[in-house]
Parts: sequence; C-alpha cells; structure tokens
Amino acid sequence: MNLLQVLQVLTVPALVLGINVQSGSLRVDGTIKSLAVDSTNPRLSWRLESQSRGDSQIAFQVQAAGTDSLWTLPNLWDSGRIPSSDPFVRYNGRGLKSRSAVFWRVRVWDVNNKPSQWSQASTFEVALLQPSDWKASWITNPDFATGKNSLPLFAKDFNVGCVVSKARLYLLGLGVHAPEINGQAVDDTVLAPGYSTFNRTLWYSTYDVARLLKPGNNVIGVQIGKGIYDSDKPLGGKRYTKFAIPSQPLKLIAQLEYMCLLGTSHTIISDDSWASSTDGPYLEAHWYGGEEYNALKEIKDWSNPGKSRQNWTTAKLTTSPGGALTAPRAPQIKRCETITAVSVKPGPDYLLFDFGVNNAGTFNFKINGTGLAGRRVTFWPAERLKSNGYIDQSTMGTNIFHAYTIKGAESEVYSPKFIYHGMQYLGINLTLGSDIIWAPKASDMSMTVIRASNEQVLEASTSDKLFNGIHSNIDRSIKSNMHSVLTDCPHREKLGWLEQDHLVFDPVAMGYDIEAYGLDFMRTIADAQAPDIPGLIPTTAPEYVVFSGQYLMYRDDPNWGVAAIRFPLLHYEYYGDITILTMRYNVMSQYMDYLQQQAGGKPYMPDSGLGDWLTLNNTTPKGATATFAYHQAASGMAAVEKYLNHTAKAAEYQALAGSIREGYHSRYFNETGSPHYCVNTQACNAMALDIGAVPVESEEAVLFALIDSLEEQGWHWDVGEISLPSLIRVLKGANRNDILYELFSQTTVPSYGSQVVYGSTSLWEHWDAPTTGGSYNHFMFGYGDIWIVELSGLSQSSGSVAWKQIDYKPVVVGDLTQAKTSYRTPRGRASAEWSRTGSSLEYNVEVPVGSIGTVTLNSTLVTLDGGKIKAGMNGVTSTKENEGQTVIKVGSGMYKFHANLA
Ligand SMILES: *[C@@H]1O[C@H](CO)[C@@H](O)[C@H](O)[C@H]1NC(C)=O
Ligand SMILES: *[C@@H]1O[C@H](CO)[C@@H](O)[C@H](O)[C@H]1NC(C)=O
Ligand SMILES: *[C@@H]1O[C@H](CO)[C@@H](O)[C@H](O)[C@H]1NC(C)=O
Ligand SMILES: *[C@@H]1O[C@H](CO)[C@@H](O)[C@H](O)[C@H]1NC(C)=O
Ligand SMILES: *[C@@H]1O[C@H](CO)[C@@H](O)[C@H](O)[C@H]1NC(C)=O
Ligand SMILES: *[C@@H]1O[C@H](CO)[C@@H](O)[C@H](O)[C@H]1NC(C)=O
Ligand SMILES: *[C@@H]1O[C@H](CO)[C@@H](O)[C@H](O)[C@H]1NC(C)=O
Ligand SMILES: *[C@@H]1O[C@H](CO)[C@@H](O)[C@H](O)[C@H]1NC(C)=O
Repeated sequence: MNLLQVLQVLTVPALVLGINVQSGSLRVDGTIKSLAVDSTNPRLSWRLESQSRGDSQIAFQVQAAGTDSLWTLPNLWDSGRIPSSDPFVRYNGRGLKSRSAVFWRVRVWDVNNKPSQWSQASTFEVALLQPSDWKASWITNPDFATGKNSLPLFAKDFNVGCVVSKARLYLLGLGVHAPEINGQAVDDTVLAPGYSTFNRTLWYSTYDVARLLKPGNNVIGVQIGKGIYDSDKPLGGKRYTKFAIPSQPLKLIAQLEYMCLLGTSHTIISDDSWASSTDGPYLEAHWYGGEEYNALKEIKDWSNPGKSRQNWTTAKLTTSPGGALTAPRAPQIKRCETITAVSVKPGPDYLLFDFGVNNAGTFNFKINGTGLAGRRVTFWPAERLKSNGYIDQSTMGTNIFHAYTIKGAESEVYSPKFIYHGMQYLGINLTLGSDIIWAPKASDMSMTVIRASNEQVLEASTSDKLFNGIHSNIDRSIKSNMHSVLTDCPHREKLGWLEQDHLVFDPVAMGYDIEAYGLDFMRTIADAQAPDIPGLIPTTAPEYVVFSGQYLMYRDDPNWGVAAIRFPLLHYEYYGDITILTMRYNVMSQYMDYLQQQAGGKPYMPDSGLGDWLTLNNTTPKGATATFAYHQAASGMAAVEKYLNHTAKAAEYQALAGSIREGYHSRYFNETGSPHYCVNTQACNAMALDIGAVPVESEEAVLFALIDSLEEQGWHWDVGEISLPSLIRVLKGANRNDILYELFSQTTVPSYGSQVVYGSTSLWEHWDAPTTGGSYNHFMFGYGDIWIVELSGLSQSSGSVAWKQIDYKPVVVGDLTQAKTSYRTPRGRASAEWSRTGSSLEYNVEVPVGSIGTVTLNSTLVTLDGGKIKAGMNGVTSTKENEGQTVIKVGSGMYKFHANLA
C-alpha cells in the first residue's frame, strides 16, 4: 500500500455500525417530492440499513423545522422518542398551511436500544390547499377552432424589480400544458395534467422557477394542447379518434408567486391582461390521431422578453371546469428513456425506422431542411408491418399520423409534444427527389419512452431465457400503460379500464413503487363512481365514454368495478398506509352495497357483464365470472373491515363471502363423470378452487379436471384475463410448479412463450394477436409475471402488511439452475437468489431491517454460512424440520444457505 492509498483509506468515513437511516430514503406521502404536498399531515417514511443481523427499529424520533438550521430547538415538531417498529409516521407537528416549508429528519433506535445518527434533512412544501389561495382567473382564447387556426399560445410580460430568492409557478392548462419562462421549458415533466374527471378534480402542476426569473423583463409563455379533454373529431377527418365528444374551450389558470432576496413577495396571475395568439405552429394536437405542425408558423422568441405582440389578442376570462384544484401526489409523467432507431430502410417515397422494441412515447427526428422549406412530411407509427414491409396500423387505430411542415433550416428537430403512443416502427412519407442529397440515418431518429416516473424497484432474472423474455415483455407493457392512470393500451384506447389494476396488481407493484401513484389513482376511481346509479363503479375511470343500452355490459361488470375495493386493499398490504382505506371507505362500501343489490339476495350473480374477457373457451358462463368477482368483493371488504378494526362488519362480510362460495358451488358443481364446475372449462374449475368454493373431498378431483384439460391441450391454457390469475394461483398453491413450468415453457399459441418466440417485445391483447389483429401492447394478461418473479422464492407472506413478513421459498423446478429477485420494499431491499448444481442448492437471501424472513427449503440437509443452524444464533430465531422441509425464521440481514436436495 503506498501513501496515497493509505490516505484514501483514512479519509473514507467510518462505517457506521448498527442501524442507519438509508441516505436518500426519506419520502413524503410515498414519494420524493419537495413541492406541493397536498396535505397538512403528510405521511413521512424512511428506510433503514444495518450491518448486524436481526436488527430492527424499536423506536424513532422525527424533528421538523422551518429551516435547515434550527435543529437544537426544532420549531415545528419534535416527536420525542416514539416506540414503533414502523418506518413511517404522519406529520403531527405545529399546524401547516398552504406554502409552509418543512425540513425534517429522523433517527431510530436499534434492537440494542442504541440510537442511530440523525438522517440528512429532507424538505417539502405544502401545496395551495384552499380555493381562496388562487387569485388567478381562468382564461381562454375564444377565437380558436380546429381547422380555422392554431392551438392557442398565451403569454404574459412582466417586470421583476429584484433578485429572486424563491419562485413557484402553479399552473393548469386544459387539455395539456407546456409552460415556458423566457424561452425555456420550466422543467422536465410532460403531458400534464393527465386524466381526471374534470368536474371533480383538476390536477395542477407546481414548478420551482426561481432560476428562470431575472431582474427586468420576463415572460411566462404557455402552449396548450388538447389532451383527452378535447377529443373531438381530428383535423381533416382522416385521423383516428377513439371517441368524439363535443369540443370544449381550451383554458388556463396560472399563478406565479415569487419572493425577492430582500423579502417582498409578488404574484403574477392569469387574467385578461394576458396576450394570446392562434397563429402558432400547432394546427392540431389530437390525443388519438396525431399532430399537425407547421414549422413555418413558429413564432420566434414567442416566450422571450422584448417580443412585440401587436398581432396577438388578449385572453378572455372564462369559468372553471368545476373540479377542485388539487396537487397530485404521483410522480409526474416524464421522458424516462431514449432509444435510438436500430435501422432505417429507404424506399421511393418512404422511409421505415425500426426502434427494435415496442414502447410508448414520442420520437425525435433530426431534419436537414435545406431546400425543403414548406415540404410536409408525415410520420406513421406502428407496432407491426404488413407482409410488403409497409407499416400496419390495424392493431392501434387508423390513421394515426403526425405531419411536420419543414422550415428550411439546416438543423430542425421534430418531436411530437402533446401526444404519446405505442410504436415499434415509424414510417415517414418523404419524397426524396433528385434535388435532395440528404438521406436520414438511423441515428437521426430516436424514441423517448414516456410514462409516470414511478421508481423502478425490481430486478428479476432466471437461468431460462424464455422466462426472462416473458418477464421483460410484461414489464414493457406495464411501463407502456403507466400514464396518469393505468391504461389498457397506449394507442387505440388509452383508457383506464379497471380490471387489470387489481388482477395484475402484484406485477405492477413489484415492478414500480406505486405508493403515491396509487393514492391519486384511487381518487380517480372515486371520482368516477357513477353520478347516475348510486354505488356503481364503471369499467373505466375516468369514465370518458359512458356505455349504455345494448353496450351496458361495457359499463358495468363486477370484475372491473371490484378494483374500487381490491386496489386499495392490495395497496394497503404493500405500503401500510391505512388512509387509503379510511379515505375511500365510502366508495368501497357503497360499491359493495350496489353489488348486493344486483345479486338480489341470492348468493351468486346473474349472467351479465363481460365474462372471462378474451378467453379462448367462451362456454364459461358469465354468471361464474361475475360470481367470482362478487366473492372477491365480499372477501376484500372483510379484509378491509378487519384492517379498520370493524369486527362486526368484518364478520358480516366473511359470512357473505362464505355464502357466495356456497352459491358458486351449488350453482355450478356437477358430479357427473368426474367432479367439475359448469361445463368443465379451465376457468370454471380454477375460479372455484381459487375462491375455496370446492368442498375438501372434491378438491383433488377438481384440480385433476383442470390439469387434465391443460394436458389435453398440450399444456396450454384457454383462459381469459379474469381466470388466468386464479389458474396460476391454484397450481402454485397446490405445489404444481411442475405444471406451471410446462405452461410457461410453451412456445406455441396460446402461451406467453409464443409471443417471445414470435419476436414480440411486449405483451399482447389477445393470445394470438398477429392472427386476430389485437394490440401488441396490453398488460391485462400480465399476472403470470409474478410466477417468474417469485421463482426466486421471494414474496410477502400472506397476512403481512408493508413487507413486515417475507417468505423465501425457492421454486426449484424443471431445468432451471438459477433464479434471483431483488425488490425494494417499503422497509428496504429484500432479495433472494438461488443456484443449483446437481442436488446442491445455494440460497442467498436478504431481509430488510425490521422484517422477519421465513426461509423454507425442500431439504433437511441445510447449513447457514457453512455451519449448523441454531435458533438464537446468527440472526436465526427458530428452525424446524417438517415433512422433509426445513423452515428457518430469520431477522434482517444477509444469509447464505446451502441445501442438499437429494
Ligand atoms: C360531472 O359531469 C358529469 C357528466 O358530464 C355529470 O353527470 C355529473 O353530474 C357532474 N358532476 C358534478 C359533481 O358536477
Ligand atoms: C403581424 O402583423 C404584421 C404587421 O401588422 C403583419 O405584416 C403580419 O402579416 C402579421 N402576421 C400575422 C401572422 O398575422
Ligand atoms: C405514403 O404516401 C403514399 C401516397 O400518398 C401512401 O399511399 C402511403 O400509405 C404512405 N405511406 C405511409 C407509411 O404513410
Ligand atoms: C444539408 O443539406 C444540404 C443540401 O442537401 C447540404 O449541402 C448540407 O451539407 C447538409 N447539412 C448537413 C449538416 O448535413
Ligand atoms: C386496530 O387495532 C390495533 C390494535 O389495537 C391498532 O394497533 C390499530 O392501530 C387499529 N387500527 C385502526 C385502523 O384503527
Ligand atoms: C354435468 O356433466 C355431464 C358430464 O359432462 C353433462 O353431460 C351434463 O349435461 C352436466 N349437467 C349439467 C346440469 O350441466
Ligand atoms: C371448452 O371447454 C370444454 C371443457 O373442457 C370443452 O368441452 C369444449 O370443447 C371447450 N370449447 C372450446 C370452444 O374450446
Ligand atoms: C419439494 O420437493 C417435493 C418432492 O421432490 C416436490 O414435490 C415439491 O414440489 C418441492 N417443493 C418446492 C417448493 O420446490
């Protein structure tokens, strides 16, 4: 070691032994958010780490202050030492109000009652909570009409007479807003405000703009797109739209509040002094059909000071759409990843770019416009190609295209701004005459993936390439549909169909931290509860299209509506935030009442609704899937009531769930031949087993009927999206991972594997999308991802909340030699990794601080760290052998087990 190395070693900060608050782990209402927290008692949370096994927090202390220097006497809150093992607490200090700024920090005591160091301070600021905080008026430009002129621009010139120390811009433009100050975008979020029921909730954005303001003249400029808010017929009538609702005026409300270094504060508000123009470059920005952009109409420096606005009109005052102005909790929509095109194929009037993967987002195209001024180029996204190599939009809505009219500059970039959509390919109609030397390269085209910026918290892989491909496809479709709500697909529909949100909850919540996202999402569901039918939760939220008459089943199906009960329940079990249950209790119980009324006193549901959606065997009665949902609702309510300590109510719903199980059994059980349910479809049997409707004496026979059918079909399922999770749970629960292994290894239709082998990089809407014309980017069949993620053995124990108890139960099956999962729980990282050589199994697990791990190994020859396992030593709290298995309970920390499986 030379001197330099010695010095480096000496300057490394001393490793803090014992417990420690993870740096950067402090969260407010489930997310890293410093601005516009929509609450005066937000939930503060943190994650811990420790060098010792078996560590946990036995107490914590939170301090909060108005500045980052008041720690000797924190002026907002000093919780004192609070005994608790939970790494979260609601702020309970001095009253906060709109705009309050809070710095807070936390320390904890470990199992030996030794305090940690204080965490670094984190900060947040309260949103505008009262309607009276808004001094601004809603404004509009009544001149705007699609086809007549361009989407409105708004601008406000103002003078700043000081050096600015702090500035917040609160703003909402409907449909979509893109604000700038002095020519610069205010931040990196896009496509706000997203979806809401506009007469209930209006999500406004909050931006820190201090760095953009300067002494002297300044300008706020806002471009407005249409979003889903204005989905009337698109320009020219040749573009696709999912639905056409009468056009509504685009409008804006904005309030800039800034403080000077010397302490004075100032406010700039939207009112009829703002200038507006309909001469800008955006002739269309349709949410479904695409943009029409004329670069020749760009107004140079339109949001810069010193610009003459003699051609502009003034904005007119208008009314609010009615909803409450609310700061979102969810991480905002951002450009999350950039992918350069992998190839471009030129043709006579046509260029085809391939991004290599199917994603949702926008694109960026570099144009050499020299000599091309005025030339209109069209861009055609697609998920697949026709046999002649041309793009094929049949899976996503025809026609979706963007048009860009070239300005004539040597370097232009076009990137659609007010829309996102799914695509793998992009065809460009561009006539390259002999006069044009420019030939775009693949590197001139890139795609940016756009989604809600929820933190990615999972890494999972196995030794099986096919399984990894399935996992990656499902993940890509989850990402592609993670917008302001979870949508069904990112192009044709872009609607928040609800069934997938509880059916596929586990893969979504394992992949991404959706704590904050889920809180907003539950508000969106609550807002959508039908105004006309008491209690009804429609199939989509927001309910932008109200189905009725012969299409009523598209509005009312209990497998969709039950998301209002199961989504918050599952959210609570993942994150432990009880307010999602207390706040949404009425929504849930009113929906439960609605279902009971629909059942009309019977312990089952009539044949109605959408059935086992997209099943390949449509003989499953709709009453069976509806009754399954009815049971999920009742058992879900029983769990909710239990968590809320409503003992009597919990018992009541448990009894109801029990009677529905009997109802399913008495209505659908058939003992002729071999015992089975309804017409012996996989769905009927799987759902019966999943809800526990099958009497013990028939369980084996019914499971056999299910397995028989799978085998008869060459180890393929024929189920739809409602019963697929049941089928997977039932087989796993019966310890038939060998059969699941067969099912997941299939490479012919219907299976996940066939999609990977086909070359798809996302999950299909139909089991055989290329034949049926279904979309290539739906995540509703995504539940199977959880089987792959859990091959490592890692899962939250049943009955546990916020990952307090974790199972480590490796699924060593088939030809797999390795599986690993790493997941960031609300308490810290949990991971599990096994690898097998012959009968020798290595199993490495990591248990977060404060959690209890239950390791179950299929062997009685088990060692820990190469030695014998003893309770009370090395983090092990108990160990027992049971029917050839060893079950070891451990505290937090990393463990290396070895088992001989022979
Ligand atoms: C919101 O609008 C819907 C449909 O436009 C209407 O049915 C509902 O009553 C309105 N709700 C409120 C709170 O105004
Ligand atoms: C703006 O005003 C100028 C001067 O009045 C006029 O020449 C020009 O055509 C106008 N531009 C537009 C786009 O209306
Ligand atoms: C390009 O333009 C031609 C002629 O207008 C049209 O037939 C073709 O569909 C277009 N191709 C694409 C990919 O838009
Ligand atoms: C752009 O195209 C023009 C004419 O085709 C050519 O002269 C020029 O070099 C090109 N510029 C770049 C940066 O490629
Ligand atoms: C339910 O009761 C338990 C035990 O008394 C308590 O710890 C918990 O906070 C209660 N939950 C609610 C939601 O009141
Ligand atoms: C019961 O199952 C048998 C054998 O599959 C079938 O023939 C019969 O029609 C079923 N009965 C009912 C009531 O569905
Ligand atoms: C549906 O499943 C039943 C029971 O396995 C079977 O008899 C029937 O042929 C299947 N129907 C279709 C369309 O596959
Ligand atoms: C444990 O081993 C038995 C016998 O080999 C097998 O049936 C079972 O599936 C295994 N369980 C797990 C969880 O791997």
